Amino acid sequence: MSSSDRVDLSVQVGALRLRNPIITASGTFGYGVEFAQLIDLNALGGIVTKGISREPMEGAPSPRLSETPSGMLNAVGLQNVGVEAFLQDKLPLLRKYNTRVIVNVFGYCLDDYLAVIRRLEEAEGIDAYELNISCPNVKRGGMQFGSSPASVEEVVRAARAEARRRPLWVKLLPLVTDIRDIATAAESAGADALTVANTYPSMAVDFRTGRSRIGNMTGGLSGPAIKPITLRLVWETSQVVRIPILGLGGIETVEDVLEYVAVGASAVQVGTASFSDPKVSETIAGGLEQMLIDAKALTISDIRKRFVVENG
Ligand SMILES: Cc1cc2nc3c(=O)[nH]c(=O)nc-3n(C[C@H](O)[C@H](O)[C@H](O)COP(=O)(O)O)c2cc1C
Repeated sequence: MSSSDRVDLSVQVGALRLRNPIITASGTFGYGVEFAQLIDLNALGGIVTKGISREPMEGAPSPRLSETPSGMLNAVGLQNVGVEAFLQDKLPLLRKYNTRVIVNVFGYCLDDYLAVIRRLEEAEGIDAYELNISCPNVKRGGMQFGSSPASVEEVVRAARAEARRRPLWVKLLPLVTDIRDIATAAESAGADALTVANTYPSMAVDFRTGRSRIGNMTGGLSGPAIKPITLRLVWETSQVVRIPILGLGGIETVEDVLEYVAVGASAVQVGTASFSDPKVSETIAGGLEQMLIDAKALTISDIRKRFVVENG
């Protein structure tokens, strides 16, 4: 490639154009603004906020985090300030930065999700919603919204009707019988993109004390340990849907990003890695250009095309 060839880092996620494919993941980057002293938020393709609920939530008992080999367990319990305080105190600060703002939304019944979206629709400065469907549906015996195609279809269809102004991304559970069925249900109910995926329900115990290392007994596993499993999920999902996929799980380096892109992701999110290095997303975004030059690719999608050609 000649030096005159310019690498283009921008990506299209449905109707939304991002300056680069690096987005910080929900729950691992606060409301974004807390990180402004540590990292240049304008260097990111986007920021997904902490999960936002109808009312403020205090979250789960401590300990909430436990380190595991090549990963981390968390049960934060979706602590957040609630939609009103988010709109009043957090969003105005976040809007000052030149990056995409994606608000992660969750609820414990269908009405909760819809009430949050309805309220967010009234605000400016939001670029998309991300629906976290890993929550228990209290009106349906606690079964997670994201665990069956029928309930995914129900929540996504209702949310889609409410989200009139903005794209709706749907964040899938990784531990399901066949992610292709769930992904297809979300797409046919109107999802504009799929985030693949959330954490893996797991445990860490201390046999000496006889206690779980997590206050909530079980938690969600994240970090490099989950990358090979989630890569497979992204690849499987990309076989059955036409909407864009956001790859998410264990990304720490530029190489990790390009692996996700190769198997079908249009962009990626970085989660746990920000705990050990808050600047990691900016570093990855900065390193991406050189990596594309080295890989003899002009755009992110060239990486994917090569994988498709090689693998039929
Ligand atoms: C401490 C912590 C809190 C999280 N909170 C949320 C959340 O509020 N909503 C959500 O959709 N995902 C949440 N996640 C999941 C992450 O966004 C991401 O899906 C997961 O950690 C896998 O990516 P990673 O291996 O890069 O961390 C959380 C993860 C961690 C580690």
